[in-house]
Amino acid sequence: MPEPQDVQRGLEDVVALESRICYIDGKGGRLIYDGYDIRDLAAHSTFEEVAYLLWYGQLPTTNQLDELRKRLASLRELPAPVLRILAEMPKEALPMDVLRTAVSALAVFEPDETKPGEASIGGAQRLTAVLPTILGSFHRLRQGLSPLVQRPELSHAAWLLRAIRGTDANQLEARALDVALILHADHELNASTFAARVTASTLSDLYSSVTSAIGTLKGPLHGGANERVMELLEEIGTPDRAEEVVRAKLARHERIMGFGHRVYKVEDPRATILRDWSKKVGEAKGNLRYYDLLRQVEGVVHREKGLYPNVDLYSGSVYTLLGIPKDLFTPVFAVSRVAGWTAHVLEEYQDLRLIRPTARYVGPVDLVYRPIAERG
Ligand code: ACO
Repeated sequence: MPEPQDVQRGLEDVVALESRICYIDGKGGRLIYDGYDIRDLAAHSTFEEVAYLLWYGQLPTTNQLDELRKRLASLRELPAPVLRILAEMPKEALPMDVLRTAVSALAVFEPDETKPGEASIGGAQRLTAVLPTILGSFHRLRQGLSPLVQRPELSHAAWLLRAIRGTDANQLEARALDVALILHADHELNASTFAARVTASTLSDLYSSVTSAIGTLKGPLHGGANERVMELLEEIGTPDRAEEVVRAKLARHERIMGFGHRVYKVEDPRATILRDWSKKVGEAKGNLRYYDLLRQVEGVVHREKGLYPNVDLYSGSVYTLLGIPKDLFTPVFAVSRVAGWTAHVLEEYQDLRLIRPTARYVGPVDLVYRPIAERG
């Protein structure tokens, strides 16, 4: 029998690799991308600037940022065969399934971008640029509308909103989404990023790595809690019912979505920033209903369980106010996180080591094989 070994279920607390990309200080409530505090990035930078930072490990100069913006804008169009695949998708298909399929299909039509190695930066930019187009095109097609022609002068966030809604974002809307994209762009070795790195560590290509990551993000334990926060708000209805509904759920040992975190032991700094944006966008739209409800829920959960909000508590309210449908919340997460996934894949290629843990075998080893004819 093999020697018994300690099993770290879920690889919890296992340090699997070194990375320069992202640091989470769970006790201090800090999130750092490449040395820069998320609060500074959310206050002063843009998603494009953050993507540059994640890919190249330093902030861009004005010219470098300008070049990247133009490059991303030039890479937004989908090849006709992939558009045809989107048009063939059932209207009720899950948008995450559509996204995963479209990225996988894209690899077939763009073989040059899929080569593993340093050249993958081209593929990283291509995938980041094209995800909003995939999402927007599918959303329009499922409503019986034609996909929009992209507008190169629009920022990534503004194009994403236009691609989904079909109308231009105003400055505040585009900035709110831009900040949300910044906040979701990376989060160390979360499950989907780990999946991307495992795939890359076999020297597989970038598009395969991102396909793995999208499939992993789809699970409700990873992406998707914000959708359920919005369902909770619908169930509560009015702020005066928050206490009663939340307490009843807690009494039934139900989890309240948008609270708690494996790493953060204090408030997730992304929740703090999104709370402000939920209020700001709510005020601009003359609709503070979600914000008021969430404040009530926060109070009850903290009082009853001592739990702090995570990134998912306020993001859904911002997206809803921006006119993004609920089933696109997780795909919007992917639109942002693709910058982090691809940065991690590039890092993996530079310091490649096949990721291959071992399992503790708990089955028998001495069974006698009997031919099938003898087994009855
Ligand atoms: N609601 C109610 N109770 C909770 C919650 C919650 N949201 N989160 C944790 N708890 C309680 C648990 O019931 C447990 O209580 P007990 O000790 O009395 O049994 C205690 O807090 C510790 O919980 P664990 O599950 O051990 O904490 P863990 O670190 O594994 O959980 C997780 C982290 C999965 C995020 C959890 O807090 C949760 O389920 N939250 C709700 C889902 C959610 O918001 N997910 C988004 C996370 S952010 C992201 O992925 C982008």
